[in-house]
Amino acid sequence: MLSGKHILLVIGGGISAFKSLDLIRRLRERGASVTPVLTRAGEQFVTPLSVSALAGAKLYRDLFDLTDEAEMGHIQLSRSADLIVVAPATADLMAKMAQGRADDLASTLLLATDTPVLVAPAMNVRMWQHAATQRNIATLRDDGIRLVGPNEGDMACGEFGPGRMAEPLEIIAAMEAGFASGPLAGRHILVTSGPTHEPIDPVRYIANRSSGAQGTALAIALRDLGARVTFVTGPAAVPPPLGVQVVNVETAREMLAAVEAGLPADAAVFAAAVADWRVANASGSKLKKDGAGKAPALEFAENPDILAKVSQMKSGRPGLVVGFAAETDDVVAHATAKRLRKGCDWIVANDVSPATGIMGGAENAVTVISDAGAEAWPRMGKDAVARRLAERIAQALG
Ligand code: C5P
Repeated sequence: MLSGKHILLVIGGGISAFKSLDLIRRLRERGASVTPVLTRAGEQFVTPLSVSALAGAKLYRDLFDLTDEAEMGHIQLSRSADLIVVAPATADLMAKMAQGRADDLASTLLLATDTPVLVAPAMNVRMWQHAATQRNIATLRDDGIRLVGPNEGDMACGEFGPGRMAEPLEIIAAMEAGFASGPLAGRHILVTSGPTHEPIDPVRYIANRSSGAQGTALAIALRDLGARVTFVTGPAAVPPPLGVQVVNVETAREMLAAVEAGLPADAAVFAAAVADWRVANASGSKLKKDGAGKAPALEFAENPDILAKVSQMKSGRPGLVVGFAAETDDVVAHATAKRLRKGCDWIVANDVSPATGIMGGAENAVTVISDAGAEAWPRMGKDAVARRLAERIAQALG
């Protein structure tokens, strides 16, 4: 998918710039050509020689290098690529991009371009979480710039949290997703997946047996048909797909907020097993045994029904809203009633009684319920269900 593509790679000044050397190597292995641009700060982390040697191409560093202007002006340089990738994208570089500043070669190229841009942010966790950075990210997203990562984990600065640059293979998957052609190219689809965790106290929570396998398979199938996928997931047992925008949440209320932030979308598929109830009297500190054998009484409050809320949106409702219904008896009757009650377009119903082995298993047997009636699909792998459903979604979106 990347073969023959021309990538302009802007390497900013972050410790993760070393990963960009590996990224260059992997891009070239896939038949892409790479024109590297190294910022002044980037030069503090990787040497110009290693970058140009790995790229097998001229390295661009300075806006005022007149030889370069004679050979290839910065406007032409910014537009000759199929894709511009900024990795690592520092907080400073993204701030410049969000403000439209052009005071060095990298920022000028990014302002002058009409080529799609993918950024891989990398910074200290506090810098990432700062309101200013988050404002800039929101601006960049509104401007149509795609992001990959950052990931959560141990950081070179000794802290832990989101801020690590996405791995080269993740950046490549995001690039491939951007180049994907297929019936869903240009479409944005939101998928929820996995269970939610509802806290009882800081160490205990209420969960369910959803593995996230069906939602994950669906996100992959939609991505492979060319869709841009926002994947909102609770704490799932299976890893999230590459090449999609992953939003990690824990509780139903966090999931609702992430879904609302992820809209608008052409279609939304709600495959998450959302807890219907949360603990209303969750404790801020760990509950202790009282010594007299008296167990604590948990009180419950109803969680927002995300599927119903989105299905019933007055404006900005996705063109197609698909829910899932996990039932243990009278599957079709219950699911048919659920479709009408919630107001979604389709319900994918499945029997999750323990004997079926479906919940947490690799296979699924679903009935797809729509205006047109109920259609029972044979039992097949969750991947196959996902591909068939993704094709149906592509047909419905036209
Ligand atoms: O009502 P029930 O939980 O059976 O409905 C299942 C469908 O509704 C699934 O698509 C699930 O993702 C969605 N749902 C939701 N928010 C809830 C409960 C369920 O989006 N609070």
